[in-house]
Amino acid sequence: MKVLVVGGAGYIGSHMVKRLARSGHEVVVLDNLTTGRRSLAQYGKLIVGDLGDPALLERLFREYEFDGVMHFAASSLVGESVSDPSKYYQNNVACTITLLDAMVRNGIKHFIFSSTAATFGEPVYTPIDEAHPQEPINPYGASKLMLERILKDYAFAYGLNSVSLRYFNACGADPDGELGECHDPETHLIPLVLQAASGRRKSITVFGRDYATEDGTCVRDYIHIEDLCSAHALALEALVSGKKSGAIAYNLGNGSGYSVQAVIDAARQVVIKTGHTFIVEEGQRRPGDPAILVADAGRARTELGWYPQYEDLQTIIEHAWHWEQKQASDVLCN
Ligand code: UFG
Repeated sequence: MKVLVVGGAGYIGSHMVKRLARSGHEVVVLDNLTTGRRSLAQYGKLIVGDLGDPALLERLFREYEFDGVMHFAASSLVGESVSDPSKYYQNNVACTITLLDAMVRNGIKHFIFSSTAATFGEPVYTPIDEAHPQEPINPYGASKLMLERILKDYAFAYGLNSVSLRYFNACGADPDGELGECHDPETHLIPLVLQAASGRRKSITVFGRDYATEDGTCVRDYIHIEDLCSAHALALEALVSGKKSGAIAYNLGNGSGYSVQAVIDAARQVVIKTGHTFIVEEGQRRPGDPAILVADAGRARTELGWYPQYEDLQTIIEHAWHWEQKQASDVLCN
């Protein structure tokens, strides 16, 4: 297949590009490199440009006649979305409509969309399945939910088939050690803990120990990047084969929650093997953090035949640690 991966130089997109290329597909990456890194897009043909540029999209779609489009390019910092909602509605909604309209004009019918657990807002029950109410509590989650809604209308009106994949906590790195997470600023727990262990930051701060959870710290569903990517590949196959059509959404997580303290404990076990350790500090709650976010991904399993391979937290952290150590020595994120 010929696949356009928008945002293929970013953390999740780059792992997807590698998987697609390794499976024999022709991959074109469209990325404006504002947060993506050229070095991460190595498995695809990189076109540097904006997804909101209709003339560029028109040229690309005419030249390549893609079988499908995967869209990973989005602004994704919850806090920033509250202080600068315009950026989120522009990048995540307006620009994506430009992409969808170019697909419709060029008769491309298969679209895989990166959605998020943030579309659910404060959970009313857990684990969270697809029937859970979607009431986002920040513009980031709202922007992704708007797209899910737009995709339903585009399926009905234009026959654009899509799968929206709602990620819980994406983490880990390429088991080969070639790719990994390069956010700047980094806000995610696992890379921050590992940066503290490698000496790239002073310490890790626990954001609150007074939550209604077993050890008082927040519980999240950590899903390995490779498992996320396998779900995307299955979703695209399901659309292209005609097994699935319309606008579908699946929750993607392992279904088991780990507390912040459990992540810190697991990370300590991993880094101690290489003679490293890190300092833990105590902090206040981070605004907008629900106590528990765990996915019920049963629907993706039964309908797509998706089975995560790297559910073990220790393995996830080992892969991320391998990557962090390379970065700390080589500065790969360029
Ligand atoms: N945490 C700390 N210290 C830190 C960083 C994080 O204690 O320095 C805690 C957070 O408070 C949270 C947990 O670690 O309880 C995980 O935090 P992350 O920032 O790694 O991930 P989030 O759960 O906040 O965010 C993820 C995605 C978002 C998505 C959200 C869905 O990264 O894009 O899930 O709610 F919106």
